[in-house]
Amino acid sequence: MPAINVEGIRKDFPIFNKKVNGKELVFLDSASTSQKPRQVIDAVNDYYENYNSNIHRGLYYISAKSTDAYIRSKELAAKFINAESYKNIVYCRNTTDAINIISLSYAEPRIKSGDRILITDMEHHSNIVPWLMLAKRKKAFLDHVSLKDKSFIDIDDFKSKLAMKPKIVAFTHASNVLGTINDVKLMTRLAHEAGATVIVDCAQSAPHMKVDVRDMDCDFMAFSSHKMLGPSGIGVLYGKEERLEETTPAIVGSDMIRSVSFNTVEWNELPWKFESGTPNIEGAIGFGAAIEYINKIGIEKIRDHEVGLLKYALKRLSEPSGITIHGPGYDSINSRGGAISFDIKGAHPHDVSTIFDSEGIAIRAGHHCAMPLVNGVLEEDAVSRMSFYLYNKQEEVDKAIDAIDKVRRVLRLK
Ligand code: ALA
Repeated sequence: MPAINVEGIRKDFPIFNKKVNGKELVFLDSASTSQKPRQVIDAVNDYYENYNSNIHRGLYYISAKSTDAYIRSKELAAKFINAESYKNIVYCRNTTDAINIISLSYAEPRIKSGDRILITDMEHHSNIVPWLMLAKRKKAFLDHVSLKDKSFIDIDDFKSKLAMKPKIVAFTHASNVLGTINDVKLMTRLAHEAGATVIVDCAQSAPHMKVDVRDMDCDFMAFSSHKMLGPSGIGVLYGKEERLEETTPAIVGSDMIRSVSFNTVEWNELPWKFESGTPNIEGAIGFGAAIEYINKIGIEKIRDHEVGLLKYALKRLSEPSGITIHGPGYDSINSRGGAISFDIKGAHPHDVSTIFDSEGIAIRAGHHCAMPLVNGVLEEDAVSRMSFYLYNKQEEVDKAIDAIDKVRRVLRLK
């Protein structure tokens, strides 16, 4: 399979023509949000300039056109994750929003006092806090699966916590801190055997690798447009049809209603039942353009490209002394996504990030919205993280390694 043409791809991203601190921008923070290609920007502009109108509401040409474009975006999203139909695709704001919708609409009426909810030690706040709040409201228990080698889900611990019969099991497909890719198919099967409903957070996997919800067999999953070349403020809540049908929406009003009187309400059909108010139409259209862009290149090729960068970065990061790399090592590359968290002995990650920025290099530093993992499991206040996407190149890893040298010089670490 021929490799992707990174230089050609970079020409599609206007931001790479810009200088930062007088240097070429080296963007190594795609796990936080991705850059946007011209094709996505143009699709959003085209909507605003040529057919801006509400969906479903207008019996006129431009409203029909925006409705078609909105549905087409959902069809692209459904196909992208191998969902049965666009009816399984609820558009919401982002992954966090999707998990909140599941927790408030599906789980809230089903969790009772004394019930158990199971998550893992590698979750992002978005897959912790909605469950923590639900457990508090219902006097339920929130359990968490521990990690092996501070990197992998401990499947024995997972099984022993499943034996306590949680009603809800929620876990990430890929960790935003460790980079670990979990065996979500196995975890889903085990959780179903224990009788649980399964929610998978695919925010860090869907942009980077083939995600197949039917193969995974999860009940619900979530991912965000902005991490995969699309606009922010638009994300996907996928649900199996029977799960979505049996869920009563918690946020109500507007087009998600088929009929209403002062005594009764009947919900609209899927997927509109969960979309209250005018949605993010321009976001959906831009998201559709982003999926088309990724499809044109090929998600498998994108994954191969990132694995190449990962291997190179893990090797180069092991050259200088005093660097700790968190998450799976070089030998477990197939269980690793494109985020590498690291520490430079003696340097606070905020200083690391500031010195990288002086070289035009954007990385993320902090707890990465995963405090139980970073503070609890890794026992760090903060970590530095570089993360890759289809537009990154090997020379950028070299620049990051040179920036590590600069950190040492500036902070007089040797
Ligand atoms: N979850 C995003 C990150 O890891 C925001 O940066």
